[in-house]
This record gives sequence, C-alpha cells and structure tokens, in this order.
Amino acid sequence: MRREVKGLILAGGRGTRLRPLTHTSAKQLVPVANKPVLFYGIESLAEAGITEIGIIIAPETGGEIRAAVGDGGRFGISVTYIEQDAPLGLAHAVLTAERFLADAPFVMYLGDNLLRDGIVELVDRFRTEQSDALILLTPVPDPENYGVAELEDGRIVSLTEKPEEPRTDLALVGVYMFTHAVFDAARAIEPSGRGELEITDAIQRLVDSGLSVDPHVVTGWWKDTGQVQDMLDANQLILDDLSPRMEGELIDSRAEGRVAIDPDVVLERSTVRGPVIIGRGARVTDAYIGPYTAVGEDVTIQRAELEHSIVLAGSSIRDLEGRIEASLIGRNVSLSRSPALPRAYRFVLGDNAEIAIL
Ligand code: G1P
Repeated sequence: MRREVKGLILAGGRGTRLRPLTHTSAKQLVPVANKPVLFYGIESLAEAGITEIGIIIAPETGGEIRAAVGDGGRFGISVTYIEQDAPLGLAHAVLTAERFLADAPFVMYLGDNLLRDGIVELVDRFRTEQSDALILLTPVPDPENYGVAELEDGRIVSLTEKPEEPRTDLALVGVYMFTHAVFDAARAIEPSGRGELEITDAIQRLVDSGLSVDPHVVTGWWKDTGQVQDMLDANQLILDDLSPRMEGELIDSRAEGRVAIDPDVVLERSTVRGPVIIGRGARVTDAYIGPYTAVGEDVTIQRAELEHSIVLAGSSIRDLEGRIEASLIGRNVSLSRSPALPRAYRFVLGDNAEIAIL
C-alpha cells in the first residue's frame, strides 16, 4: 500500500547567525547560486511527488516568504501558510501544523537545508514501508552543533540534541519523515536548555515507545546554511554542478570554465573564471570574477576583483584595490573607493556587520 504524503517546510527560524542579512530579510530567502535556499527544498519535495505543502512562517518574515513563494503554482504544488507565533522549537512547529497535517504521513524539511541528491527514493521508501518515522543522518566533523544519533546494528539507540561530548559523528539532517504518532511524542516532551521543544527529543520518545524509526545515512553532500561560511560552502557545492549558459553580452571579455550568464548582463574588458553565475541586468566592467562566485541581479562590478563570494541583488562594488574573497554582501550595498584625500575608510554598516581588512 502506498501512503499519501504531505510536506511541511519550516521557514520560521530567525536566522540570528546570518545577521545583518537577516535583519531585513528571511534567512530562507538568502540565495545560493542566485536561487533562494528555500526554493531548493520546495523543489526537492515537488520532485518527490509531494504537492500539498504547509510552510511554517514567523510573524516578522512571513510576508516576505509569502511574496516569494506565492500559492506554489510555479513549483507545481499548493501551499498553505501556517504562522508560528514564537520560535519555540521544531517540535512546537510540528504541533502548530497539526490541523493542516491531520492524519497524513509527512516529510518535514528545514527551510535552510540543502541535500545534493534530493529525497525521491527516501520518500518512496517511506510511502511503501510502514515505519513510524524515517530520519536522515550524515557524518560531520562538528557533531556537537547538531542532533546526534547513536546506532547499533543499524537501529537507533539514542538521539541527543547538540551534546557537549557526542558519542558518534552522525548528525541529524534537517529532513524527517513522520506519521501522526509524532504529535503525541511532541506533546510529551519538555523544553530543552535553550527553551525549545526539540524534534530530536520527540524522535527519541518515538524510539522509547517502541515505534519504528528507520535511520538512513545519506552519502551525497548536505548543508545546513545557518552561518555565513555554510552559505559560501553551499554556493560552492551548487556551482560545482552548474550548467553553463551564455545569454549576456561579452565585450573584450573572457569567460572560462563553467559560467552561467543571464540575459541583459554586459561584461566589458573583464575576465570571469568559473564556476560563476551572474544574474540578469548585472554590469561587469574592467573587473575579475573568480571561481565560486554568485553575482545577483542588477549588480555593478567596476574596477574590482572578486572570488568565492555571494553578492545579492542591486549592490555595487567599485574601484577597490584588493581582491574581495569569501564574502557575503547583502542587497543594495555600495562598496567603493574614491581618490579624495585624506585616505580614510568611511563605513555605514548595519547592526552585526562584519568587516575584515586583510
Ligand atoms: C536543528 C535540529 C538539529 C539538526 C539541525 C539540522 O538544529 O535541532 O537536531 O541536526 O537542525 O540542520 P538548529 O538549526 O535548530 O540549531
């Protein structure tokens, strides 16, 4: 028997570790290779044949997420928005969506997670097998930052949220499959030290109640894009698989390697060394854009060098002497240098901004 599976995407997180970008914008909408990270998750669920998807939003950033995703039509899905009043944890988010999910088994997908190989086969397995939950695990170098699983003969022995001394290096990936048994488990647990109802504790509860929780270790890469370095890493991983295309105009310029250039882009006296993606309307003049860079729509780069970075829409970078690298630059940012004296730095920076002059 095949079970009809719904989707639940969590896009309510405040993104405190991605400030200042997240002062003005939801972390799930920060682009990786010029596409909001949330869209990769939606596409993964749609690819797995899930068409009824609930998206958990926060009061502060929900409007922006609604505007970006709409009714889901262009992804071939139908979206129901569910507001979570306060960030009280992943298990709390599940409870908030109880009415929408009703009795259907569902895939819960954290809106800032990226999984290279998608979830088509796993969702199929969950549809046909009768397990109560399926969790995804992957070895990581820093398990103390995640939920950590201990397995014995392929079965789960324990799950611990961010343990100080992890017993294994197997992290819980932010994609979970549940039946309605999870609601009682979520109701039975207590808030953790960080004041949240942890989904990790709810799954431990399912295991303790003798229900079947099926662990699956993923082999392709996985990224939780909660921090700047993770965003840059994810950008690199996605750009590694970029399909080259050239729809812009090259004037006395060179584009080498995997380069995707959108319409209305003009490159003049510039060199682009891929993997690089450049969004519609960007102007690149007397500049160098090096590997693993994503340049957003309507960005201007003039007499500057840039690599291994993400620049969001509408920003401009002009006349800088040094090369910009490993940087995440928000929307409508202006970075420039003038020949005026005295030579000085002049900054107007948002809260939590980070500047490093190397
Ligand atoms: C959450 C979960 C954690 C999981 C991680 C995956 O952590 O609590 O168990 O490993 O997502 O991204 P958070 O992002 O809330 O710190």
